[in-house]
Amino acid sequence: MSTALVIGAGGREHAIAWALVKSPHVLRRVYCMPGNGGTASSPRMENIPLTSLEGCVEFAAAHGVDLTVVGPETYLAQGIVDRFQSTGLMIFGPPRATARLESSKAFALEFAHRHSIPTPSTHLISDYTTGIDYLMEQPEKRWFIKADELCGGKGAIFAPTLVMGKEALHLLLQQRACGLGKQVLIQEAIDGEEVSIMVITDGQHYRILPLARDYKRLKNGDRGPNTGGMGGYAPVSLSPQMRERIERRIIAPTIQGMAVEGLSGAGIIYFGIIIDRVGDPYLLEYNVRFGDPETQALLPLLKSDLYALLTAACEGTLDQASVEWYPGACACVVASSAGYPVNYGNENLLISGVNVAKDDGTFIFHAATSYIDGRWYARGGRILAVAARGESLEQARERAYESMARISFAGMHYRRDIVAREETCVA
Ligand code: GLY
Repeated sequence: MSTALVIGAGGREHAIAWALVKSPHVLRRVYCMPGNGGTASSPRMENIPLTSLEGCVEFAAAHGVDLTVVGPETYLAQGIVDRFQSTGLMIFGPPRATARLESSKAFALEFAHRHSIPTPSTHLISDYTTGIDYLMEQPEKRWFIKADELCGGKGAIFAPTLVMGKEALHLLLQQRACGLGKQVLIQEAIDGEEVSIMVITDGQHYRILPLARDYKRLKNGDRGPNTGGMGGYAPVSLSPQMRERIERRIIAPTIQGMAVEGLSGAGIIYFGIIIDRVGDPYLLEYNVRFGDPETQALLPLLKSDLYALLTAACEGTLDQASVEWYPGACACVVASSAGYPVNYGNENLLISGVNVAKDDGTFIFHAATSYIDGRWYARGGRILAVAARGESLEQARERAYESMARISFAGMHYRRDIVAREETCVA
């Protein structure tokens, strides 16, 4: 009889809790801290207020939680895993030292350089004037200006012109729009196809999960501001040669480098990869947790037991774990509230159609929702995701959009072009 605790409040955490509660091991319940309207209304899930990191530890100890899974990076960067482990509690996620691969872009870049992992050409800048001079030396180039700290998904600014590059430097280094604003990375933008690769590791062994793709921009055709993710799908098909190249050049050296530098631990290493037009893969970023919304597209494809898989990673026996996937594909479409991501409120707007949207192979993963007296309400931000499995990506996409069309709330927005075309990567 096992009990699990999922920390976080988004669609990713709802998907993790949903996959855990199906496990034959989880005979009691999955606690969600703090959870959302979806987890509040799901059988055998229970929302618990999240007070502090220490509060999580105390709750897990007092309620005999067997496995804790951490969704958001902020808690990992604060050292929640170290704290759980020091009290003998099992937790899936990397320790604080490893979480720096996500919480400091400069640390990640230097790590990649130490292990000869290819990245786009990148310059570290701590002074605004030096940054401007650097951009002006190459006025024709397109850049990403990246904050060197966690910024809730808003720390990477695409700057296709010199003017936009200067604005981004001003925003991050002078206005300190993301934390302390001590330094930024100026990274050359590469033309190519992006792919999200999540790898589960126990520190020694690793398994590559089906490849996924997310849609970061708000509007159809990849226009509008960056968001936390407006949809995604899995699997992304790459040729066996390309998969081998990515594993050999990026994934394996990362896992080996982590072991050499004492950065191991059980968890997910998320590789944001871009493959350029001639077929060379580059590392764009590391995350140290499940991707959002990729996880909402990935976990419906998992046939085997998530609890057993995560426990095997925590126990160092990942090489013996069985991981089976459903054939076909899964598409996920996110609905957001009016004004997201720039200016949005936090009011409770009635959501209709959530029940009728449910269908075989279609899943509603809630994010910014509440559940009051048997009804769901949209608060503000990314409200929910509809994920659907299909025999093909096209069928999965049609199913997801059919269900989404039955859901409504005031100001609802979603992209109409998720999986409109699957990019084919060069081999
Ligand atoms: N989908 C990108 C992320 O989770 O950060």
